[in-house]
Amino acid sequence: MPDHTYTPVGFFSGEKIPLETHKARMVQRIYLRPVRDRVRIINEAGNNTFLLPNRDVFLDMLTDSGVNAMSEAQYAAMLMADDSYAGSETFYRLEKTVLDFFGKTRFLPAHQGRACENILATAYVKPGQFVVTNYHFTTTKAHITRLGGKVHEASRDEAAKTQSEDPFKGNFDMEKFRAFVDANGAESVAFARIELGTNLIGGQPVSLENVREVSEYCKEKGMKLVTDASLLADNIYFMKVREKACEKMSLREIVLEIGRLSDILYFSGRKLGCARGGGIATSNEEDYGKMRELVPLFEGFLTYGGMSVREMEAMAVGIRETLDMDVVSQTPLFVEALGSELVAKGVPVVTPFGGLGCHLDATRFVPHVPQDQYPAGALAAAVYIAAGVRGMERGTLSEQRNPDGSEHLSNMELLRLAIPKRVFTLAQIKYAADRVGGLREHRDLIGGLVFEEEPKTLRFFLGRLKPVGDWQEKLAAAFLKDMPSGL
Ligand code: F0G
Repeated sequence: MPDHTYTPVGFFSGEKIPLETHKARMVQRIYLRPVRDRVRIINEAGNNTFLLPNRDVFLDMLTDSGVNAMSEAQYAAMLMADDSYAGSETFYRLEKTVLDFFGKTRFLPAHQGRACENILATAYVKPGQFVVTNYHFTTTKAHITRLGGKVHEASRDEAAKTQSEDPFKGNFDMEKFRAFVDANGAESVAFARIELGTNLIGGQPVSLENVREVSEYCKEKGMKLVTDASLLADNIYFMKVREKACEKMSLREIVLEIGRLSDILYFSGRKLGCARGGGIATSNEEDYGKMRELVPLFEGFLTYGGMSVREMEAMAVGIRETLDMDVVSQTPLFVEALGSELVAKGVPVVTPFGGLGCHLDATRFVPHVPQDQYPAGALAAAVYIAAGVRGMERGTLSEQRNPDGSEHLSNMELLRLAIPKRVFTLAQIKYAADRVGGLREHRDLIGGLVFEEEPKTLRFFLGRLKPVGDWQEKLAAAFLKDMPSGL
C-alpha cells in the first residue's frame, strides 16, 4: 500500500468536512424504534447497552471492535483462505504480514486481544507483582489481577482531565514511573505496558518520543516493555499530524520504530486489521518460547490460534491497509466531526478529540447523579432513549469493586460513542449530535441507576440495572413534546 502524501480535501465554505475516500457498495438496513418502545427496550436490557439486541439499535456506537467496514480487498482475500488445522498457507501469509509490519521475527496467533492478555499475564505476572502502564484497560486489568498481580498507572495528571489541550494525554509520566520503580524495585515489575490510543481516557494517543523514553528506561532497568497495539491505527495518525518529529516519517517508519522500541507487541485484530482475531509479536526467543506453549492450551494450534482462516486473510490485508493515511484518518476525522457538533451544542466532551469515538463527560453532563449511581451508565440509557443510539459506559460501572466490596470510583465518568471505521455517514453523525444536544436540554430529568444483578467479574458486560425513580418516563414525555412522532 503506497504511503502517499496526505492532504485532506478542503471546502470553499471553509467548513471542516471529513470527505470519504471510499464508497459504499454493500449496505445494511437499520431501524429507529419510537421513544416509548426505547424506554421499554432499555429496561428489558437491564439498562445495560451491552444487552440490547442489535435489531433495536439505530446507530450502534458501542464499539469499533470487530464492526469496522472491511475493504473489497479484505473480502476478496477471504475467498483465498487455505483451511487447515496445521501449517495453513493463510497463517504464513498473516505471520509474514505481522512480522514485516512490526519488524519482529516471531508471531503467535490468538483469538482476540484479551486472549493475548491472558497469555502475557500467565507467562509473566507473579502474585504481588505490578504491571506499570500509562492507563489500564478493563480486560487487561482483569487478567493481571486474576493472577494476583496489580496494575500501577504512571499516567499524566492531564490524562484524567476531560478538558485539555495536551495532544498526547496517553503519555507515560516518566517522573511517576521512575519514582515507582525507585520505591518498589524493577524486579517487582512484571512488565511495563504502553497502551497506544489509550482507550479508557478517550482514545488519547501516546507520542513516539514517549514510547522511546519508556523503552530506554525499561532497558536501563532490565524491565520488559509490552505494547498494546490494538489502537495503533488512530495513534499513528495522531503521531503523524501532532508530533513534529513524525511529520516527515512514513507510517511504515513510525510503526517499525514502535516495534523496535517494544520487546513484545500484541493486538486485538478486531481493531487493528479490521477483522476478528489477534496476536503477539516479538524477536526474543526466550519470550517466544515462554508464551508459545500457552497458545495450543488456551487458543488452538499455533497456525490458527482460535481464528478462522477467512478472518486471518482479512486481517493480513487490513493490517497492510493501516499504512495508508486515508484509511487511518477516517475515525479521527469523524470523531472530530461529531465532537465539534457536540461542543457547538454545549455538550461536554473529552478534548482534545481522540481516536476510537467521541467521549461525553457524564460528570459535567449530569453532575446531579451521584457517582455510585453510575452517571455514565445512566447517560448511556438516556442517550438510547433519546436517540436509539447505543454507546458504552466507561466509568465506575466498568471498574471492579475493591476487595472489601466497596465501589472503586473511576476518576472519569465517560460515555463513549464509538465510531467504527467507514460505517456511518455524516448525516448519521449529525443525527447523533442533534439528539444528544436535545437531551442536554432535558439533562435535569436524567436520574441514576442501581444494580439488580451484579456479576463479580467484568460486571459491565452482563450486569442488570434499574432506574432510580421514574425519570425515564419523564424523559420520554419531554422527548414526545419536542418530537411528537416519537422518532
Ligand atoms: N486492548 C485495548 C486497548 C482494547 O481497546 C481492547 C478491546 C483490548 C485490548 C481487548 O481486545 O476485545 O479483542 O479482546 N477493546 C474493545 C472496545 C472491547 O470496545 O474498546 P479484544
